[in-house]
Formats: sequence, C-alpha cells, structure tokens
Amino acid sequence: MCGIIVRAGVGDALGELLTGLENLEYRGYDSAGVALRRSDGEIAVCKREGETEALRSDLDADRLSGAVGIGHTRWSTHGAPSDANAHPHTDGENRVAVVHNGIIRNHETLRAELRDRGHEFTSETDTEVIPHLVADALDAGRDPSAAFRSAVDRLEGSYAIAIVVEDSDEVYATRRGSPLVLGLGETANYLASDVPAFLEFTDRVVYLEDGDVVVVDADGYQISDVAGDPIERPVETVDWNAGDARKGVYNHFMRKEIDEQPVSLRQTVDGRIENGRSVLSEFPPGSLSDVDEVIFVACGTSYHAGMYGCTLLRRRGIPATAVPANEFAHEPMPLSDRTLVIAVTQSGETADTLASLRAAEESPARTLAVTNVVGSTAAREADDALFIRAGPEIGVAATKTFSSQVAAIALLADQLEASGAGRPDRRADPAQSNDRDSHDASADTEGSISELDTLPDLVETVVNDGGAARLATQYSEADSYFFIGRGVGYPVALEGALKFKEITYEHAEGFAAGELKHGPLALVTPATVVVAVFTGRNDDRTLHNIREAQSRGAPVIGIGPDSARAARETVDEYLSYPAVDPDFAGILANVHLQLLAYHAAEIRDRAIDKPRNLAKSVTVE
Ligand code: G6P
Repeated sequence: MCGIIVRAGVGDALGELLTGLENLEYRGYDSAGVALRRSDGEIAVCKREGETEALRSDLDADRLSGAVGIGHTRWSTHGAPSDANAHPHTDGENRVAVVHNGIIRNHETLRAELRDRGHEFTSETDTEVIPHLVADALDAGRDPSAAFRSAVDRLEGSYAIAIVVEDSDEVYATRRGSPLVLGLGETANYLASDVPAFLEFTDRVVYLEDGDVVVVDADGYQISDVAGDPIERPVETVDWNAGDARKGVYNHFMRKEIDEQPVSLRQTVDGRIENGRSVLSEFPPGSLSDVDEVIFVACGTSYHAGMYGCTLLRRRGIPATAVPANEFAHEPMPLSDRTLVIAVTQSGETADTLASLRAAEESPARTLAVTNVVGSTAAREADDALFIRAGPEIGVAATKTFSSQVAAIALLADQLEASGAGRPDRRADPAQSNDRDSHDASADTEGSISELDTLPDLVETVVNDGGAARLATQYSEADSYFFIGRGVGYPVALEGALKFKEITYEHAEGFAAGELKHGPLALVTPATVVVAVFTGRNDDRTLHNIREAQSRGAPVIGIGPDSARAARETVDEYLSYPAVDPDFAGILANVHLQLLAYHAAEIRDRAIDKPRNLAKSVTVE
C-alpha cells in the first residue's frame, strides 16, 4: 500500500503528478502530498490528510511549479492519518524531500542516533529518518547521488523510496521489497508503484529489482547497486491501455470492472484451449508430470480463488490445499520436490503472499505465481508465472480478477490432469496420460474446459441481470447477511461475504453450507438474510440447510442455475444464471454476488472504490 509517483521532464510536473496520484489511490488514500523542485532550485511541498482531491483543492500552483517532482498517496502504518504524517517528508531545512512505501524496521535506532546529532523530527513516521540521513550525508560533502546511496545503505526493512534534493534536476530512488517501476516517456520519465499511475503518458517500462538504485532526469536514467556499480535492465512494453485504467462513463471502477468480465475472461482463455484441452504455452508437454500435490497460498479474494482451484484439482484426482499466505509463511508445511506451491495474487506484490512464496523457495518445492501483473515481484521470484490477463483492476474490491484467476487455475488443472499429476501410477504409462475416463474423479468433467470458451457470453447475461439491484434494496434493513455454499459454491460464498462486508460495512459472513447447523444457526433470526449458492452439484443438501434457516424465520436468496426447480421453489428470492458445467457455476454465481454487494453499498452511499481502512495492494505483513 501507499503509492509513489515521480515525474522528471520538461514543462510543469504538477498536473502529471496529480494524475498519477489519482491513478494510484487504490493503493491508499488517507493522505496525499507532492514535492516539486522549483526553477529557483528550492523544494516546495504540499501535503494533506484525505484523498488527492483534498490536496488538489488546497494547492498553490504558483508555489508548486517545477519540472521535477515526487508524489505520494498514503495508507497509514506508522502514525495516524494527518497533515504532519502525510508524505513527502523533509529534513529540517527543506533540502531533501522523500516519499516512501513500506516500513523502515530500524527507524527507532536511526531516529535516536540522528537526534543525538541535533536533528529534530516533526512526524511519527518511520519515513522521516530518510531525509535526515540524506541531509547528514550532504553535510558530510557527498553529492546527492552518493548521499542517497549512503542513506539507503543504513535502512533495514522493506521500501520503495524516491527523493528530490534542492538544486538538483535528478530524482533518486530505490526499492527493496516494495514495488517500483520506471516509465520512459517522450518528454518526461516517471517512476511509480504500479504501471497504471503513468500509463496515459507511456507504456515503455523498466521493472526495477530489489536493491536497484536509480537516478532519473528529463533525459534518461541510470541504474546501479547501492555501491554505485552500474546495472542493466531490459526495457519492456506493457500491453494494457490507458483507457482500461480510466472510469469512463461509470460512477465506480468496481461497476466498470464487474461489467468488463466477459472481456477479461475472454482474454484469460484466448488461445489457451485446443481440441478440448488446455494448452498453456508456459508449460510444455511433460513439464508438470512430476507434480504430486498442489498448495495454494494467497490472501483475500485471491485466497478464495485458490480454494476454488483446490476443488477443481481434487475433482481431477490431484491433492490440493489452500493456506492463507500469512499462515503458510510462518507455519510452513512439509514440502517435497513434487509439491507445486501456487501463489495466487492479482498484484503480485502482496507482502504476505511474497513471504509465503519465499518460504516455499527455501524448500525443495516448485513455485508458480498466478498473477495479473507482468513484471510483478511474484512473477519474477517464482519459478514460473501464469498470467491471468484480466487488465488493470483499480477498485479495491477485486472482481474481474477473481473470475480470471479461477479460469486460469481451471486451465492449469486441466493441464496438470493431462500430465498425470497427482497420480504417479499413470506417469509410468504415458499412453494413459490423456485418457480422462480411466479414473472416476474426473469422469464427470468431460469436456468442461471447452466450456470456458462459452463462459464469457454466459457472464454477459448475469452482468445484465437487474435482480441483484432489486434485492439489495428489498433487504437493505437486515442485521446480518450469511452466505452459504458447497463445493465450488463454498469459496464463492466466502467471496460473496467478503465483497459485501468490504464495501457495505454491514455484518456479513460466509460458511460452508453444512456448517450452518454447527454454530452459526444460533445467530439466525428473521433479521438475517441467508444467501445460498447453488451450483447444480449436491444442491439437495444445500436445500436442507436452507430449510433450517427458514424455520428460524430467515429470508433466503438463492443463486443458481435457471433449471434448478427445487431450489427456486424453496427459496424466497432467486437469481438465476444460464446452464453451465458445475465446475464453472461458481464464476457465474459470483457475478450476482458482486452486483448484490455493489448495489447494497450504493444504497448506503459508501466509498465503493475505496472502502475505509482497506487498500488494494497490501505491501506490509
Ligand atoms: C487486499 C485487497 C484484496 C485482495 C488482497 C490480495 O487485502 O483489499 O482485495 O484480494 O489484498 O491481493 P492480491 O493482489 O495478492 O491478489
């Protein structure tokens, strides 16, 4: 969390910095600020508690003119949201201004040391030690670049940092454990926490690696290590376009991204199915055949996609488990060289997920990142990467990336099955490896991967269904919202509850349908709305669970296939989706749940794209 934007070029920087900050608000939005190096060489800073809009309305554009500047949008970790704690931070004499994302673990030691040397601090942040360290090194006679590197050398923790220094046209920046990408434009160069920040100015990028120190000005850039030794990194072109990262006619990114699902899903699947089987070019034939088990590690919505993936894999005879990333990282499981650890992460930068990936990398296990962001840390650190190709997602509540994660994992599951993964007996006889019918677990999945091709059209019909909007209004007075499901409907129930609580701030919980009677039922009253997910598999059992809730007076909303007559007749309200293989029914049901949460939040006038206390990309553990 926290977003950094840097602009060094010709002409005025302020406008582009503010655009960059607005594009980055999904990373944090409790305060924002900019620092510009003016033409007289001085540094001018403006920062405010609140969103970029508060900063924009308070700016003195004359004072803040200059071609080189840094900006920051914050999600608090050290120190409450306030003007004083907002970035940029400066040294006592305003010679150095710093923006920082991450945590400086040794900031207290550094602060005490600097205080002893006469430095005074004005904020509670860990960041403030950085400008003081740089100022100290400037006083010792170092040039700005060397002063920056010597300060960086003292820091412990995770960080992306950018600084401007008085009388210098250059910006100095580095990363370790937090993302930072360089953008190369025609009239200016940029640095940012994420590509959408500068996507409307350039699509040519250099992904920086941990430990890289970069000096950027209007004419170019140099990368070195902290000792100053030069490093080469490739220039790449990103295939996202700027329009994807703009709201357009929509009131909220979340609604735009829900509506985009037919397109984003198509992008996930395109070119990856041939003759009814998945053909992921990332995995040449035979490259997955030594996988005996799969462990998904992930957080939030991505964790639910991993849980969904477990069900798909187990049905194909492949043992699979999903573990919350922070649990996996610090309570490691026994892993062998036949374990595939899959980090599912939209951003590829979630600290908990990266920690679990790194824990797996210290074991004999093989690692794979399933991610949306090419060039992300997870993509680069894992042994392999599978890109979900959903396009940029800006709303904090993940929507289209969940569908694409599940579709990508389904493709992978099909390929793992075809490789004989999870079944050492079949590996011995490769002739069997494409024979689906020879084992029971996958017998009823015949042809299901081909259905991924038609799924985008089916999603379109759900996106256009007005039912969720009506029910959000009808049930707006409830005390609690319980979501239940089984099989692939279970992670979808959890995801439905997560979406609902994230953006409505109402009490919402998800349960495995069969668990309702083991405790949660005690909470069910006529003021509890129960939302039940049907998938066309084991629905009769879910109907029993529903009746238990109904007999306590709870109204029940069912979400299921058009054809599920018994479900439709049992529940109080029903949102339907077209006939589909039960493996993919969860994706369709989930779109109804996204819309239900969206409309419920809209009625309550919530900050849908930027819910309180949350950030899209959580880069601290
Ligand atoms: C945050 C976001 C969630 C997201 C989770 C994992 O908590 O608010 O929406 O699902 O991080 O993010 P990732 O980028 O790793 O998928």
